[in-house]
Amino acid sequence: MPRHLLGLQHWETRHIEEVMERSFFFSRFRERKLDNLRGRLVAALFFEPSTRTKFSFEVAARWLSADFYNFPVELSSVVKGETLLDTIQTLKSMGLNALIIRHSHSGLLEWLKDRVDISLINAGDGAHEHPTQALLDLFTIKNNFTSLQDLQVVMVGDIKYSRVVRSSIKGLLEMGARVKLVGPPTLLPESFREKGVEISWDLEGALPEADVVYLLRLQKERQQNGLLPSLKEYTRLYGLTENRLSLLKSGSMVMHPGPMNVGVEITSKALEKLDGDPPPGITVSIQRQVESGIIVRAALLDFLMRGDR
Ligand code: NCD
Repeated sequence: MPRHLLGLQHWETRHIEEVMERSFFFSRFRERKLDNLRGRLVAALFFEPSTRTKFSFEVAARWLSADFYNFPVELSSVVKGETLLDTIQTLKSMGLNALIIRHSHSGLLEWLKDRVDISLINAGDGAHEHPTQALLDLFTIKNNFTSLQDLQVVMVGDIKYSRVVRSSIKGLLEMGARVKLVGPPTLLPESFREKGVEISWDLEGALPEADVVYLLRLQKERQQNGLLPSLKEYTRLYGLTENRLSLLKSGSMVMHPGPMNVGVEITSKALEKLDGDPPPGITVSIQRQVESGIIVRAALLDFLMRGDR
């Protein structure tokens, strides 16, 4: 039974399935407060900005009656030079059971796990992994299609710097989906092929075969100079535009982890159309992903902190 969620790389298929099953179970009780984690203390330590991830962990923990502490990194002794490890030990002495961390440093949690005695949950570490985003996306897709077996998932955009993509590939392949990555050559390392996915530079060729079109946020904060000619050029070649909506097949679903760069990975016209009057048979799941986030994070906290019970 895993104690941490450092990344999906460390998880077996049965662990992913367990969180999916628990999520379906919890989704039936969304309207009432549950007692599962009463008396447990969960904290969030976010060194990078976040709205939906942080808030949905908080809502999920409180839904299960845990106490939740949102650690204000910018006001804390971490800024004064107290090391992260000391900070965590201090929180542990105050009764902390699980810590949710977001940090720009890839692999930080891997290092921490041998040094602290609490459950650690990765809420995004640099460009490395964002496993709870992948889990909530799997749950959203499973809810829509029932099974992921043989679904064609096309993930579009900034593959190079996306932690979402690194976690999602593992989860999607484990659940039987086929994955194609599409993006400009400078943001789409060839080495991704080794993970068992297809890669392509041709968005218009990939859209008609997609059951799921997953748009990634262009990681403006992580770009090195010279990899992108201009945002306009990026949108011209890889943005979901109104015209490209007509290439989507009926029954397909458009996803995005948020926050969206409207006008970059999706144009405002395409978004308006998807929100108001989507082409027949096309589902937009961006809102559903947010709702799934609460359910899946509750299921995960329950799984890590209560195990089989
Ligand atoms: C993702 C993240 O922070 O990695 N967003 C999120 O958690 N909702 C996706 C992104 O910002 O690209």
